[in-house]
Amino acid sequence: MTCLLNHVVLLVVQLVLVVLAQEPRNEDPVVSTTLGRIQGTRMDSFSGKTIYAFRGIPYAEPPIRDLRFEPPKPIHSWADTVLMATSDSLVCPQTGITLLMSEDCLKLNVFTKNLTGKQPVIVYIHGGANVLGSGHSSYEAGPQYLLEHDVVLVAFNYRLGALGFLTGGNYGYLDQIMALEWVQAHIANFGGDPDLVTIMGMSAGSMAVSLHLVSPLSKGLFHRAILMSGSATNHYSIHNEFWTRLLARQVACPMYNAFDMTECLRNVTWKRIIEVCSQWEQYKFVNMKWNYETDNYFLPMPPSVLINKGEFNKVPLLVSFTANELDYTTLAQMDNDLLLHDIYENFDEYAPEFFLFDYNPLKSRRIKEFYFGQKQELSADNIEKFGNIFSDSIIGHGVHRLVDLARKHTKVYYSRMDYVGQRSLSAPLKEDKSPVGVGHADDLQYVMSGLWYGTLLDKNHKDVFMMERLTEWYTHFAKNGYPMPDEKSWTPCNSTSIKMLYNDRTIKMGPPAYVSRYAVWDQLFPKPTGKGTAIVASRYLLVLALALAMFSRGLL
Ligand SMILES: *[C@@H]1O[C@H](CO)[C@@H](O)[C@H](O)[C@H]1NC(C)=O
Ligand SMILES: *[C@@H]1O[C@H](CO)[C@@H](O)[C@H](O)[C@H]1NC(C)=O
Ligand SMILES: *[C@@H]1O[C@H](CO)[C@@H](O)[C@H](O)[C@H]1NC(C)=O
Repeated sequence: MTCLLNHVVLLVVQLVLVVLAQEPRNEDPVVSTTLGRIQGTRMDSFSGKTIYAFRGIPYAEPPIRDLRFEPPKPIHSWADTVLMATSDSLVCPQTGITLLMSEDCLKLNVFTKNLTGKQPVIVYIHGGANVLGSGHSSYEAGPQYLLEHDVVLVAFNYRLGALGFLTGGNYGYLDQIMALEWVQAHIANFGGDPDLVTIMGMSAGSMAVSLHLVSPLSKGLFHRAILMSGSATNHYSIHNEFWTRLLARQVACPMYNAFDMTECLRNVTWKRIIEVCSQWEQYKFVNMKWNYETDNYFLPMPPSVLINKGEFNKVPLLVSFTANELDYTTLAQMDNDLLLHDIYENFDEYAPEFFLFDYNPLKSRRIKEFYFGQKQELSADNIEKFGNIFSDSIIGHGVHRLVDLARKHTKVYYSRMDYVGQRSLSAPLKEDKSPVGVGHADDLQYVMSGLWYGTLLDKNHKDVFMMERLTEWYTHFAKNGYPMPDEKSWTPCNSTSIKMLYNDRTIKMGPPAYVSRYAVWDQLFPKPTGKGTAIVASRYLLVLALALAMFSRGLL
């Protein structure tokens, strides 16, 4: 319901923006690039500083018709015409925001205060489980907070769902790399320093950041990384092939020969593709079916293996998650006694799909035992335990493992967001209307403004201090490689110690959080040992065999 309202509001905002954007004023900025000239507009930062905004700049050819299910192609020059980058582009196809989408969505936004400066650049990679989200400035990636500081912000769209992650493609990640290449080539024209680029992502965007840490294609395209609530160093067993075939089958396309299948799928409207895939998420729990694949190109080996070996882009890392992450995702089914009963009774069957591992009753039983303990049931009374499993399996454990593996090779600043603000996307409200905890993405509202994660704060809102704190840390980190001017107040993790900064109204350093919970996942899905490739190879074969088994189970 609130979603629907959001979308209506967004539509109105979009229309207003389009109307406002049509008549650029004479003093509005025009930037020259090797691709052609680009006309922007002006916006105000949180405190009223002037931001030059260039929105809707294409960074790749439209991925439509023959280019659907192909790696992105660099955009051609627009020669002597002036590109009107005066309003946000349509967002990539996804469920929900019907009127504002287009498959022609590979566009980016640039925000800067100084066109002749040499400022640190922050590139935002949006989240949304690889099926939702955008770099849209009024929807989720508003620059008003970060541009209080002297940085350049870039936000962009990449292909989502089947269009971005059909098996064999990693197209969505290749789009991200093309956007980063665009930044290298052109950001100096906007007052940005191409040698000081920070990639920042939240959720699936954060997982993407961790993939760029290890991808040989991303090498040299960035110099620091901010990871908010996500890392591809998790245990996920990924079945893009399974979901690709299910999609093909449901739209009556061939399932096995890659050429036959993609030719046929190119003829299906994106609306139909989105509609079919969205039918797979009837329980409304957070999930991530479309994902990265190892391919000897973008991703030569699983991220954990590469990071463990120290074979990655060893930039300083700022890594965080929230105290309650996905604890509340299960509340969607709180009153569904029958479903909860069935999930508890047949946990072995449900757990692999919910928590992204291959069918394994021993593992399922260990998880069930650890989280539900003596309470031999799942009901509204202990549903938060069920939520904890999502928090740890989908988000927390992967983040913890990233920190654990990367700290031997680079500086890692680790923190947990504990501050319960006035607004939360997922947490239920207490009697006094304040949220009970800090859910997934509840920290993003202090870094960027937008209708989805949190609209622009009022000047005297009681949470403004947290916006000031986080943007100060992030921009200081972007510039210097460490978040606090006083280096001693936030010490990085290193090979001998893991320290966590607990970010509540006040901050304090302490031992890392939830170690006993994550120990269970480490036990079930051991860290790479770094010894030889034989173990890795045999594990692959096992995964492959289980994937095939799962596939046939699913279709029979
Ligand atoms: C923009 O940056 C340049 C180069 O660092 C500097 O000389 C100039 O003063 C800056 N302009 C403003 C308005 O801050
Ligand atoms: C795509 O659709 C058009 C029009 O319905 C049809 O003529 C064509 O044969 C289709 N192509 C494929 C590869 O299915
Ligand atoms: C690792 O971090 C700890 C705690 O901050 C510090 O005492 C120690 O000197 C560091 N070790 C190295 C090798 O930097």
